[in-house]
Amino acid sequence: MRTSYCGDVSEALLGQEVTLMGWAHRRRDHGGVIFIDLRDRQGLVQIVCDPDRAEMFKTAEGVRNEFCLQVKGKVRARPAGTENSNLVSGKIEVLCHELVVLNPSVTPPFQLDDENLSETTRLTHRVLDLRRPAMQKNMMLRYRVAMEVRKFLDEHGFIDIETPMLTKSTPEGARDYLVPSRVHDGMFFALPQSPQLFKQLLMVAGFDRYYQITKCFRDEDLRADRQPEFTQIDIETSFLTEEEIRSMFEGMIRHVFRKAMDVELGDYPVMKYADAMHRFGSDKPDLRVKLEFTELTDCMADVDFKVFSGPATTPGGRVVALRVPGGAEMSRGEIDAYTEFVKIYGAKGLAWVKVNEVAKGRDGLQSPIVKNLHDAAIAEVLKRTGAQDGDILFFGADKAKVVNDAIGALRLKVGHSEFAKAKGLFEDRWAPLWVVDFPMFEFDDEGNRWNAVHHPFTAPKDGHEDLMTTNPGACIAKGYDMVLNGWELGGGSVRIHRADVQAKVFAALNISEEDQRIKFGFLLDALQYGAPPHGGLAFGLDRLVTLMTKAESIRDVIAFPKTQRAQCLLTGAPSNVDEKQLRELHIRLRNAAAAAA
Ligand code: AMO
Ligand code: AMP
Repeated sequence: MRTSYCGDVSEALLGQEVTLMGWAHRRRDHGGVIFIDLRDRQGLVQIVCDPDRAEMFKTAEGVRNEFCLQVKGKVRARPAGTENSNLVSGKIEVLCHELVVLNPSVTPPFQLDDENLSETTRLTHRVLDLRRPAMQKNMMLRYRVAMEVRKFLDEHGFIDIETPMLTKSTPEGARDYLVPSRVHDGMFFALPQSPQLFKQLLMVAGFDRYYQITKCFRDEDLRADRQPEFTQIDIETSFLTEEEIRSMFEGMIRHVFRKAMDVELGDYPVMKYADAMHRFGSDKPDLRVKLEFTELTDCMADVDFKVFSGPATTPGGRVVALRVPGGAEMSRGEIDAYTEFVKIYGAKGLAWVKVNEVAKGRDGLQSPIVKNLHDAAIAEVLKRTGAQDGDILFFGADKAKVVNDAIGALRLKVGHSEFAKAKGLFEDRWAPLWVVDFPMFEFDDEGNRWNAVHHPFTAPKDGHEDLMTTNPGACIAKGYDMVLNGWELGGGSVRIHRADVQAKVFAALNISEEDQRIKFGFLLDALQYGAPPHGGLAFGLDRLVTLMTKAESIRDVIAFPKTQRAQCLLTGAPSNVDEKQLRELHIRLRNAAAAAA
């Protein structure tokens, strides 16, 4: 039926007869001549319909946006001055000989080239939204990325093995999506939060190198980079060290960027978790932003300013400065807006100092707080921050978590602003890194217990096994995250392969032996049969492609995503079900109103 894609017709086909299939993107009636931009997944081509072929012309007059058409015609050069350098087909057009309407379309609810559509409109009419060239490009890049991942993994001996979707609760720490069992009254499957336990079992089973590009399900609060069902590139390997695993998968992401985008990422910096928190207040620092924290906790203990001396003398407190070069020109309004912004993250305020003239010491500073700081403290602040004339220093003082969250977010907010771009404080580049040496455990104040930072199957660093019992907070894990432009792209760890070490972790986490058996008995049993040393990681495919396309949200690279409220506007899921279905599943709804709806 077809000789070429619309978007591929170029000068190479000049003078040739072509048959094209596609959709009418736009129809322009120039009184006497009708132009149709015919669109398919490869792009647009201009079709010219002259009135001298009366029957064809009559058909063209009836064509409206989004009609599905077949066009036969001859490729010719566009008249001088009418070329479009944005299109592959911009130098040519197709003089139409025959036009067939394969299927008309009702009037679409929006123009496909409207740039200002609301996301609700787009998700409700997702089929038409997906027809838009930008979305076609996103989905095709997603496919390229997945293909290149598969090629790389195949070349490195990884085999794709599927794992169950109907399974038992898995340990990634989010809420489970549950599926009721009809056969077993009152029992539920959980949809997997990841294939974690199964991929470890596959290592024990001797497959050596496993991968899967698979859906994971997590019922958590959604953000721009999160979906309730998302896709992982999930990987596990036996007999490789942490460094070997990182090196191989840094190579995989480099390969994907090279092949799918023609971008060379180079070697990744490796940063310890503690350094990342110290310098950026974040375990996923955006290294494009050239701003860093300055530690001040140790030099604020004796100042006559409770806001600083309080946290500086309280265990777990932190005081830092964020120096913004050139920031003294910020207006009060801007500073007030940043003060409101950090409050979202729990900060109680945002102290600041404008550095007008460093040489003058105290007298060269403009600030509501310098009066509260003695000379030595001021001198230390200026020295440590390396402040220059014209800078502004922002301060955070609170519990370390609040300071890290608030000043970390401020660093990004300032760092992504037009101001930062103009001052060269933001470098527009690809900024990947590894964050390593995560702590094994973090203390949960509310629950008054230790939680696993990664998951409870992560191995401690060699020599740290005993710390799990003596000083859990100091125990470092063989865990690692890959970060790109401030997003956590992937994460993983070397796993525990010995039952005795696993028992110590469960003890540190205060998981009773009975609970261990109920939740993870099958894994503990498997570990007893000569389980090999193993480890792995998982990448978020949706996030990877979002970064590559520079899309605003993860939803722009998923064909049929859920909204922030975990709904599918296209199909209307989730929805009510029949009473009969519920009865078969042994379920009675607590909320009678919902049941009646
Ligand atoms: P983790 O929970 O870090 O690790 O997930 C791995 C990667 O998956 C992506 N991701 C998400 N993407 C979109 N929406 C979500 N809700 C979402 N949650 C996670 C992120 C993240 O880096 N089993 C371990 C991996 C391992 O240890 O091998 C795991 O699932 O990009
Ligand atoms: P106050 O003493 O409350 O008037 O605060 C003096 C200055 O310190 C103001 O600029 C506040 O915004 C700022 N500030 C108050 N609390 C904090 C805090 N926890 N961290 C940083 N700055 C703060």
